[in-house]
Amino acid sequence: MSTFTIDSATSRATPTPVPGKRMTVPAIRARKKDGATGEPLVMLTAYTMRMAQLLDPHCEMLLVGDSLGQVIYGLPSTVPVTMEMMCAHGAAVVRGSWHALVGVDMPFGSYEGSPEQAFASASRIMKETGCAAVKLEGGEAMAPTVDFLTHRGIPVIGHVGLTPQAVNVLGGYGARGKSEAEAEKIVRDARAVTEAGAFCVVVEGVLEGIADQVTDAIAVPTIGIGASARCDGQVLVTEDMLGLFERTPRFVKRYADLASEIGEAAAKYREEVRARGFPTEEQTYQPKS
Ligand code: KIV
Repeated sequence: MSTFTIDSATSRATPTPVPGKRMTVPAIRARKKDGATGEPLVMLTAYTMRMAQLLDPHCEMLLVGDSLGQVIYGLPSTVPVTMEMMCAHGAAVVRGSWHALVGVDMPFGSYEGSPEQAFASASRIMKETGCAAVKLEGGEAMAPTVDFLTHRGIPVIGHVGLTPQAVNVLGGYGARGKSEAEAEKIVRDARAVTEAGAFCVVVEGVLEGIADQVTDAIAVPTIGIGASARCDGQVLVTEDMLGLFERTPRFVKRYADLASEIGEAAAKYREEVRARGFPTEEQTYQPKS
């Protein structure tokens, strides 16, 4: 097995042998035994080779989320995200990782039409990126598609609760499951995609008690975001938890304040450029004496 390091002098990707073995779908699935998970699963989003390299040793799973629409491309939602974007970023993350299982989001419009459409999209994502699994949003309505994919060699991560691709139907990104009917539907959705073959299920933006009910109701690991500490694993958007955005949603904990550090570095650079303090002899080429 090899991964790639980028030689900064030549910008060439150099394959490097790496120790160990990548996480597999059965290994992730097996972390939940008889309804219980000992050590929770760690998942973070990654969209680039370098971020994947940095996160990989710390995660069981890296998710190339369609949140890249907002985070990388400045789009207003995940709705305009394309297959081309997901394939390009998915391939970069696979190249930058060797340990974590890489899952790639299926973008809006690439799978909802029919199981056959979903198979064409998912197989393209797997061929072009080398990822081990795809994620798709939706519950009962998507169960036949999950079944179709999993019986044809495509591991699927489910995604229930707040499903951001449905923002235009939901009317916003508020927590789901506030009414009894909605809560029951979320549990049914999670059961349906699990029974159809999903090997783990992201539970996003739901009341804590509902996330707990889902975790108790399904045999495969739940991965929470804005959900509950009792989920079998957790995921966050990496740029959120690194403090790259001013606005921190309630469910995010900031583990760093990179926005301030980047601002300070850029200000220092500007100061030195304007004062002709950069570059110095150290950063310039001199004739050999
Ligand atoms: O797109 C994404 O990053 C996601 C996670 C937030 C679960 O779906």
